[in-house]
Amino acid sequence: MKNGQIWYDTDGNDIQAHGGCIIKHGDTYYWYGEHKGGETKVTHLVSGAEVARVDVIGVSCYSSKNLRDWKYEGLALEADKDNENSPIHTSKVLERPKVIYNEKTNKFVMWFHAERPDYSLAGVGVAVSDSPLGPFEFKFAKVPNKQDSRDMTIFKDNDGTAYLFHSANRNKTMNIARLTEDYTDVDGFYVSVLEDQEREAPALFYKDGMYYMISSGCTGWAPNAALFAICPHLLGKWKLIDNPCEGKFARQTFFGQSSYIFEAEGKFYLMLDHWKPDDLRNSGYSILPIEITDDNCLIVPWQEEWQGI
Ligand code: GAL
Repeated sequence: MKNGQIWYDTDGNDIQAHGGCIIKHGDTYYWYGEHKGGETKVTHLVSGAEVARVDVIGVSCYSSKNLRDWKYEGLALEADKDNENSPIHTSKVLERPKVIYNEKTNKFVMWFHAERPDYSLAGVGVAVSDSPLGPFEFKFAKVPNKQDSRDMTIFKDNDGTAYLFHSANRNKTMNIARLTEDYTDVDGFYVSVLEDQEREAPALFYKDGMYYMISSGCTGWAPNAALFAICPHLLGKWKLIDNPCEGKFARQTFFGQSSYIFEAEGKFYLMLDHWKPDDLRNSGYSILPIEITDDNCLIVPWQEEWQGI
């Protein structure tokens, strides 16, 4: 699998799992992401600026044992084709789906960026399933804690408490909003971090007393330099440190943008989307290993290929 390019599933079809995440349940890895397998259309933001979108198809699910051979398991969450008022109607925008398993309820909970075509909603959507394969039942979309929410991720802390990380305050700030015990809503408590730093596409992990966040700047589908931030306390004062990328085109994050960090066999890996705004369905993927130095710095070296584990 060539990093930066579109990948194929075990049937030879293009993998449609953009802005996604990989989780492990039992001995299987599940990759969820935006199915962008439609025509790229141009829409307008409230500001009048043009932005590319694809009609919502749904959230795909792929399964794998080795992180290389991906079997298509179908749409875990399907767009609503009938009800124009549904936040997941075909005419809307659905981005960055993240799935988290709740041990107390034994349910899989999916969070995503729920949006209008002009990006004026700035909300999150929640869907729930008994099985990792779905079908996920859509519950609601809302603006969490009355704070606008665009790029986002979900992170489970060591004590089992989960948080929604989302770009807020018109992308100027990152908010960390605590979820309810069943992970299906925010509970009202949140903090704002990285104020005025304008970060998006957050991806997180924890290792040996330190929390790490890799994020991108705010340049839409265009690549920019990733930065990593660290904090010894999840809700403490996060500090931006440096660009972790190393190699050719490191300043452009190898023409990619962070979507998620997952752990496999004790190592952490960064998932990137290589957006093609003229042809979103053919946007490529990368999975790159993350190295952690003794002084809590991150290094993400470019590799031509992803070979799985
Ligand atoms: C990016 C964001 C993507 C998508 C895109 C639309 O900045 O990371 O998820 O929202 O903007 O232009």
